[in-house]
This record gives sequence, C-alpha cells and structure tokens, in this order.
Amino acid sequence: MTFLSNQMQISSKTGKLFSVFSLTLWIFAFGVSVGYAALDNQKCTECHTMHRSQDNQVLSEWGAGGPYTALMVTSCAGCHTGTNQPGSMPYVMSSVAPLYGVTGTESNTNTLAGGSFYWVGDSASRGHNVYGIASADPNLPLPPGFNGQDKAIDDSSPGGGIWLSGTQVTCAGIYGCHGTHAVEVESTAIRGGHHHGLENAITTASSEPGESYRMLLGVVGYEDPEWELTPTATAHNQYKGVSLARDKTTISALCTRCHGDFHSEAGSATEGWTPHPVDYDMSDTALDSEYRLYGGETNLYQVAVPLASTQVTAPKEFVLQGGDSIITCVSCHRAHGSPFEKLLRWDYSGSPGSGCVYCHTSKS
Ligand code: HEC
Ligand code: HEC
Ligand code: HEC
Ligand code: HEC
Ligand code: HEC
Repeated sequence: MTFLSNQMQISSKTGKLFSVFSLTLWIFAFGVSVGYAALDNQKCTECHTMHRSQDNQVLSEWGAGGPYTALMVTSCAGCHTGTNQPGSMPYVMSSVAPLYGVTGTESNTNTLAGGSFYWVGDSASRGHNVYGIASADPNLPLPPGFNGQDKAIDDSSPGGGIWLSGTQVTCAGIYGCHGTHAVEVESTAIRGGHHHGLENAITTASSEPGESYRMLLGVVGYEDPEWELTPTATAHNQYKGVSLARDKTTISALCTRCHGDFHSEAGSATEGWTPHPVDYDMSDTALDSEYRLYGGETNLYQVAVPLASTQVTAPKEFVLQGGDSIITCVSCHRAHGSPFEKLLRWDYSGSPGSGCVYCHTSKS
C-alpha cells in the first residue's frame, strides 16, 4: 500500500498561509465555496500539481502511483487516509485501527459515519473491497443481490447494468459509489464535487455530484459538517427515506444500485416481511408495538441506529412523529467498513452488543 507513506494531513498544513491572491482566484474561478470547511483558505498546490514536477523531481508528499487525473497530487485513497480529529478532512482509511467502541458513536471513537476500509484488511467481509485499497473479495465476485435494474438519478446503473464477475467496486465511476456510473475516470465521475460549497441540507435531487448528498449522485440528505465524528441526537446526518417505496433519492437507493434484491418496500406485519423491511416508517406500527419505544419514552434519536426521514432539512432530535422513523440500509450497516462481519454497525454475533434491540425493544 504505497499511498500510506504519502498521507496528506491537509488541515494541519492549512490556514496559516492564507493569501488574498488565492482567495481572489478561488472566487473568480468557482464563484463560491467560502463555507466549505476543509477547502477554505487552501492553496491549489495542496491538492493539484500542474506538471507533476518541481525542480525536475516528484515531491515526496505526492502519491507514488501518478500522474493522477484532475491533476490531483495523489489518489482518492491517498488523500483520504489518516486519523480523524476535530477539524480534519474526512479520512476513510488509516494505517492503524480507528477507535470504534461498541457502535462507533461513543465519545472515545474517531470513526466517521461511513466507517473505515481499515477493517477489510482483517477480513474481506468487514468492508467493501475497493480497488486501490484492498484486493478482491475471495468469496464475492459479484455484489450480493445485484439485479442491474436500480439506477441513479441520471439513469445510469453500475456496470451499465451488468457486473462482470470479479470486478472490484471503486470509489467513484462505472463500478463505484460516488458520482455518476456513466463515466469511468473516478475524478471525472465526481467532477466539481470538491469545489462545491457545503450546503448541509441537500433537499433536491441533482445529477451534479457537488449538489448531491456526499457526492452520491441524486441522493439527498442533511450532511453533518464533521461527517459524524462526534454525533449526538441534535448533530448527525439526516438520511432520506420514503416509506413503502423504492425512491431514487434515498440513501438505501445508493445501496440498491448494487444490492437491489435486498430492498423490501412491500410487506406488513400481517402479510409478513421478506427480507427485513427497508424503507418502512416505524411511526406506522401499532401504538403498543415494541418499535414505539425506540429511543425510550421520549423517542430520542439514537445515533447508534440511524433512522431516515422524508424531510431532510435538519437533523431530527425526536422521532416516531410520522415520516421520520424509516428503516434504511445504514440503520444496520456502515457503507465503507466496520470491525464486524458484513459491515454491521455493531457485533451481531455477540449480544448484548447487538443493535437489533434498539428497535426490537422487547427482545434481548
Ligand atoms: C487532494 C486531496 C484529495 C483528493 C485527491 C480527493 N479528495 Fe475527497 N476530499 C478532500 C477534502 C479536503 C475533503 C473535505 C472537503 C470539505 O468538505 O471541507 C474531501 C471530501 C470528500 C468527500 C465528502 C464530501 C461531502 O459532501 O462531505 C467525498 C465523498 C470525497 N472527498 C470523495 C473523493 C473521491 C471519490 C476522490 C477520488 C476521485 C477524492 N475524494 C479525492 C480531499 C481530496
Ligand atoms: C483540498 C484539495 C483541493 C484544493 C485546495 C484545490 N482543489 Fe481543485 N480539485 C480537488 C479534487 C480532489 C478535484 C477532483 C475531483 C473533483 O472535481 O471533485 C479537483 C478538481 C479541480 C478541477 C476540475 C473540476 C472542476 O471543478 O472543474 C479544477 C479546474 C480545479 N480543481 C482547480 C483548482 C484550483 C484553481 C484551485 C486553487 C484555487 C484548487 N483546485 C484547489 C481538490 C482540491
Ligand atoms: C457500486 C456497487 C455497490 C454499492 C453501491 C454498494 N455495494 Fe455493497 N458490495 C458491492 C460488491 C461488489 C460487494 C462484494 C465484494 C466486496 O465485498 O467488495 C459488496 C458487498 C457488500 C456486503 C458484504 C460484504 C462481504 O464482504 O461479505 C455488504 C454487507 C454490503 N455490500 C452492503 C452495502 C451497503 C449497506 C451499501 C450502501 C451503503 C452498499 N453495499 C453499496 C458493491 C456495492
Ligand atoms: C431500525 C429499526 C430496526 C432494527 C435495527 C432491526 N429491526 Fe427488525 N424489524 C423492524 C421493524 C419496524 C419490523 C417490522 C415490524 C412490523 O411490521 O410490525 C421488523 C421486522 C423484523 C422481523 C420480522 C418480524 C415479523 O413479524 O415478521 C425480524 C425477524 C426482525 N425484524 C429481526 C431483526 C434482527 C435480527 C435485527 C438485528 C440484526 C433487526 N431486526 C434490526 C425494525 C428494526
Ligand atoms: C435490520 C438490519 C439490517 C438492515 C436494515 C439491512 N441489513 Fe443487510 N444485513 C444485516 C445482517 C444482520 C446481515 C448478516 C447476514 C444475515 O443475518 O442475513 C446482513 C447482510 C447483508 C449483505 C451480505 C449478504 C451476503 O450474501 O453475504 C448485504 C450485501 C447487505 N446486508 C446489504 C443490505 C442492503 C443493501 C440493505 C438495504 C437495502 C440492507 N442490507 C439492510 C442487517 C441489515
């Protein structure tokens, strides 16, 4: 893993060398972005190299695998590898194990909402085996439940609807999660995303990566400004869900582009569910059902087991008030990886750590 030696500690290098020229250029070139936390006050040279040459040499802080597209100094993983701390850019990979605790949300943890690819190194089933970060998953040449029919808002689907056996998932692009599936080059698939102002609440579906929740094309949601480094009931991502529907703007629609058969939007307590309900509002369960005690008597939002909502203008503090208690894929899973099998948010094999009881409150 050559990129580990090229880690960029972007935020620690920035802020001090603020230049009026770069700000002017920034506003001239992009018209915005002053609110984009980690990109604020940064010089182009932190992230771009025009010729990949300085004094006829490649600088040691540049990634070893270059040159990179979009004139980036390193790869996606090269920049996004490091240890999260308040104010840092989002790191989704690291050379030492991130602190996770029981659910990744306790105060002494430093894992972000998506989890980390670090644990794929322990076991292929603890994360997505992303190309450039891990070798291919020996057990899963295809995404489980892939049906090739679920598309992004731009009507493109991963692999054009066909997953060639053994193809590894990528950060972005045709076989990727971020950006459009219509373009192969990863930086082109998310073009402009890094230079788009952070909006916090993205409420309208867009085919622009920068106007989509976390550059996930067409997905909407409220973006916690620190990617849930220290989530609380009042400061967390607010995911989009739509009850009993298959809606392209939801966070589960991201997952179903590759795992479409695992989405169950049809069913009921009487008809039975198969598989487990996803995109179903617990506000619609019987008033005396066990689900009505999610978050206790007051129904306080639980960061350990997130619920999605139809409105994503702000984080919900209290739920079960209608349209705000929707089960989604990431209620149980982390998108990148976790210390547990199947990217689960908690240790399913090891009750009492099990997160199932946050909703199934009468089970233990
Ligand atoms: C040169 C360094 C660099 C490279 C290369 C880089 N990123 Fe980033 N990325 C950043 C920084 C810095 C941020 C934080 C921006 C902010 O929100 O303040 C970021 C943020 C993000 C986010 C979060 C956006 C949000 O809405 O919060 C995603 C997703 C992302 N990058 C994906 C990628 C992908 C995919 C690639 C490869 C095509 C990539 N990055 C390459 C530096 C980089
Ligand atoms: C913190 C890292 C970072 C800094 C600082 C940065 N960029 Fe970028 N830029 C990126 C990344 C990563 C990409 C490729 C992915 C994307 O477009 O989101 C990119 C893409 C671009 C693109 C192509 C996409 C587009 O929006 O047209 C241009 C042009 C660009 N940057 C110019 C600049 C200029 C000029 C500066 C300095 C004023 C600058 N960048 C500073 C990270 C950065
Ligand atoms: C672009 C396609 C793609 C998307 C989108 C995607 N996955 Fe996957 N997923 C895969 C592939 C390919 C595998 C099998 C190989 C691997 O583990 O990387 C997989 C495997 C998995 C596994 C089993 C891991 C293992 O190794 O046993 C889980 C769990 C999973 N995905 C959950 C999710 C969730 C939750 C989401 C949404 C947050 C999601 N996936 C989005 C492609 C995708
Ligand atoms: C985010 C909340 C939530 C979480 C977490 C959750 N469930 Fe569920 N589960 C539900 C809801 C709601 C139903 C459907 C209830 C209904 O229709 O009355 C359900 C249904 C079920 C059913 C079918 C029950 C039936 O009557 O057909 C089983 C079995 C089940 N869940 C097991 C689990 C297990 C095991 C876990 C942990 C891996 C888990 N659930 C995690 C909310 C959740
Ligand atoms: C209620 C919790 C829960 C929800 C919601 C949930 N999953 Fe899972 N998922 C699990 C558990 C637990 C496993 C481990 C295997 C099992 O018990 O079936 C799993 C396994 C998987 C696997 C691995 C399957 C394999 O063949 O190895 C994939 C892929 C997956 N989930 C994707 C998804 C996607 C996509 C969604 C949303 C559409 C989703 N999950 C929603 C709990 C959940």
